[in-house]
Amino acid sequence: MQLPAFDEGKYNFFDVSWKAPMDTVSGITEWSRDINSVYSLTTIICTLVFFAVAIPLVITLVKFKQKPGDDSPPKQFHGNPTLEVLWTVIPVVLLIFIAVPTWRVLFKHSHVAEGSLEVEAIGHQWWWEFRYPQNGKIITASELHLPENTPVHFRVWSADVIHAFWIPKFGGKTDANPTSFAEDGSPTRWNEINVVTPLLADKTKIHGEMYQGQCTQLCGSSHALMRFNVVIHSKEEFDRWAKTAYTPPKVETTLAQAGEQVFARCQACHTIAGTPSEQIPGVKIGPNLTNFGNRKYLGAGTRLNTPENLAAWLREPSSIKPGSLMPAGLVNEEEIAQVSSYLRLATAKSY
Ligand code: CUA
Repeated sequence: MQLPAFDEGKYNFFDVSWKAPMDTVSGITEWSRDINSVYSLTTIICTLVFFAVAIPLVITLVKFKQKPGDDSPPKQFHGNPTLEVLWTVIPVVLLIFIAVPTWRVLFKHSHVAEGSLEVEAIGHQWWWEFRYPQNGKIITASELHLPENTPVHFRVWSADVIHAFWIPKFGGKTDANPTSFAEDGSPTRWNEINVVTPLLADKTKIHGEMYQGQCTQLCGSSHALMRFNVVIHSKEEFDRWAKTAYTPPKVETTLAQAGEQVFARCQACHTIAGTPSEQIPGVKIGPNLTNFGNRKYLGAGTRLNTPENLAAWLREPSSIKPGSLMPAGLVNEEEIAQVSSYLRLATAKSY
């Protein structure tokens, strides 16, 4: 199936299906439904307060307007203990009505459920990296794979500036903050999100395939293009995906072989499992490309992963993501064809 890029979709404000991928109120997880229940309660209370203030205000403006020919000053008075107590107590009571369910939701979702899948979501300028510490060395970028109906514990942090991790259909967001690292390379600071993933059968995926995620903290020139996609699998399919997600590329053609040689120049910034690029330690500046051939989109979820779009990216990354840290002109046209064949075909795996 040919998928249009998100940019090409026509979004309808009133449509809560896939046409509104950033819709937050349709509540497909318990977490998002709980957040929306607090949101609805707050909206109802604020609406009542608005009318409780606005209606007497309008009545007062009309009723006590200065009459023609009446030049006497209005009646003067100072202090009204009854009113002062009332307009102190009423807001306090209203805030308690908002605070109690807010705390209830916060505490309910702040503990890590037993059997949670651990995922590290790492913000970079301008793309997301995902690691699965329970599943060996799986690292992927811009495409988050999750099993259906499973508790997931996200640890969210940043490799550079402050980003924010958000899957609108799943629920709330949290900041990805820069961190220092312990001796074993693990981060010393992170934020957390706990969510039970939706069922595979959920119909609100974009084109029936994926959910959209987005960085929501202004983090530089391509902040708005810092997207990612969420693919939900059945539990069996997720296990198969996890088995193949960090396997070496299968180089089967001479074109791809030549591409493999070209890729050797890319390995200071990019990693592909089972190649020498893996030996270079530290957090790489560019996305992990191990399963690039399986990804629907490139450029942090903004363009379809087609040979044309990949070539455009390699020629001039900034034409797709302004300010991209990857410079233009790293490869010539012949090398683009070679490395494109390597990246798109050799790293594609069936699962
Ligand atoms: Cu990362 Cu905005």
